[in-house]
Amino acid sequence: MRWYIRNMTDSHSLSKKPLKVAVLVSGSGSNLQVLIDAMNAGSLPIEIVGVISNVKEAYAVTRAQQAGIATAVFSHITEGENAGKRMGIKTFERHAGAQLNEWQPDLVVLAGFMRVLSDDFISGSPAPMINLHPSLLPKYKGLDTHQRVLESSDAHHGCSVHVVTAELDAGQVLTQAMLAVDHSESAEELQARVQKLEHQVLPWTILLIAQGALNLKAINENADAAPYLPALPLKLWLNSQIAR
Ligand code: GRF
Repeated sequence: MRWYIRNMTDSHSLSKKPLKVAVLVSGSGSNLQVLIDAMNAGSLPIEIVGVISNVKEAYAVTRAQQAGIATAVFSHITEGENAGKRMGIKTFERHAGAQLNEWQPDLVVLAGFMRVLSDDFISGSPAPMINLHPSLLPKYKGLDTHQRVLESSDAHHGCSVHVVTAELDAGQVLTQAMLAVDHSESAEELQARVQKLEHQVLPWTILLIAQGALNLKAINENADAAPYLPALPLKLWLNSQIAR
C-alpha cells in the first residue's frame, strides 16, 4: 500500500514521506508498542524517530530498544552525588527539548508520559504535541480517572487524544473512544478495557494526522482557517468489541 501525507506547514502539498514521530513515555509503553507494531506492519505511515522517558526502568524504553529505536532517558531521580534528588522539570525540559531539536519530528506523542510540561517547552517544541488521556475529556482531567468514574453515576467512559497545552488535559480534543461502564467492575478491570480503546484510538488519530485529515497547525492557529475540518472530537464507539 502507498501512503501520502500532507506536509503540516502546507496542507495542500502532498508528500510520500512517513510522518516523523517522537514519543514521550513514563511507563509500560503498551501504546508505544501498538505504534511500533503498526509502523513495522506498514499499516501506519510513520517513522518513530526516538523515544524519551523520564523513568529509567520504564518498560517502554526496553520496547523501543528492542525495536531498534533511539532512546533518551532523563530520569527524574538523579544518581551519583545527588542520588535521590528529584530532577526539576526545567532541567528535564532543557534535555528533552535539545533531543527533540536533534530528532526534528513532525509530531510529538505523549503516551503515558506522567510529568506536566511548561508553556515554554510546549511552544518551543519543533512539532505539535498530542496526549492520550484515559477519560472522556473535559470530564476527569488529572489522575485516578477510572476510580472517579466508578464513584460517579456515569454511563459512559473512555479515552481522548488531545492537543497539549500548558493547562493540564485542556487542549483541543481531537478524538475519543468510549464504552459503557459496568458499575460492578473494579477500577483495574475498567482500566484494562479503556486501554483496549487507547490501543485503537491512538494509531487511528495519528493516521488522520499523517493523512492530513486532522491538521494540527490549522487547529492551533485558528480553526476557522480550515473550514474543511470535521467537527471535533471525532468519536469512535467500540463498545461491542470490548463489552464486559
Ligand atoms: C495509559 O492508560 C494512558 O491513558 C495514561 O497512561 C497509560 C499509559 O499506558 N496516560 P502505556 O504506558 O502505554 O501502557
